[in-house]
Amino acid sequence: RAVRIIALDGPAASGKGTLARRIASHYGYRHLDTGLTYRAAAKALLDAGQPLDDEALAARMAGDVDFEGLDRSTLSAHAIGEAASRIAVMPAVRRALVAAQRRFAEEPPGSVLDGRDIGTVVCPGASVKLFVTASPETRAKRRFEEIVGKGGDARYEAILDDLKERDARDMGRTDSPLRPADDAHLLDTSEMGIESAFQAARDLIDRAL
Ligand code: C5P
Repeated sequence: RAVRIIALDGPAASGKGTLARRIASHYGYRHLDTGLTYRAAAKALLDAGQPLDDEALAARMAGDVDFEGLDRSTLSAHAIGEAASRIAVMPAVRRALVAAQRRFAEEPPGSVLDGRDIGTVVCPGASVKLFVTASPETRAKRRFEEIVGKGGDARYEAILDDLKERDARDMGRTDSPLRPADDAHLLDTSEMGIESAFQAARDLIDRAL
């Protein structure tokens, strides 16, 4: 297969985003954080003061997302993540975004996509699939330290509850629930720093490519 596609899936704060960026830069592939595409559609709805439960409208916003202009810094707000996970249960929203994600993925020489359903739905024929996990407690601790490190205010317990609720919604939805593809390699980063997680991912990818 000419175009190499590396799929990374996993729950929020598992480390898949950081890993995906490192991997893309190492192999010289383009990178798409698909969570940002759901966030951009959600932000468009919030900015327009529109309700989040109108599927046709949400799908139209999803169809208008500019994949070249995605910027985590303008999309990181907690309310946007929350709204993203609510519209992500809607099949029409997913159809619109998945079609554009596939077009992004298929451009040579290769691409790295991270999200929840890359290995199962968006790119089932990906060259390598990694499912990145970590315990909820580890993920909550990482998120907590990230926020506090930036001088923000956070409560560990609230973050943990929030992550568990987000996991339940992402794993429990009918359309494209979060789960490892049958041929995904599991990478549990609970006891790993970013450096060893990157080495482990690289070993798996080098063996598969
Ligand atoms: O990864 P991030 O927190 O930015 O994603 C926000 C939300 O978008 C997730 O909680 C999930 O509901 C949704 N999402 C999805 N499928 C993807 C990526 C993100 O449903 N491939």
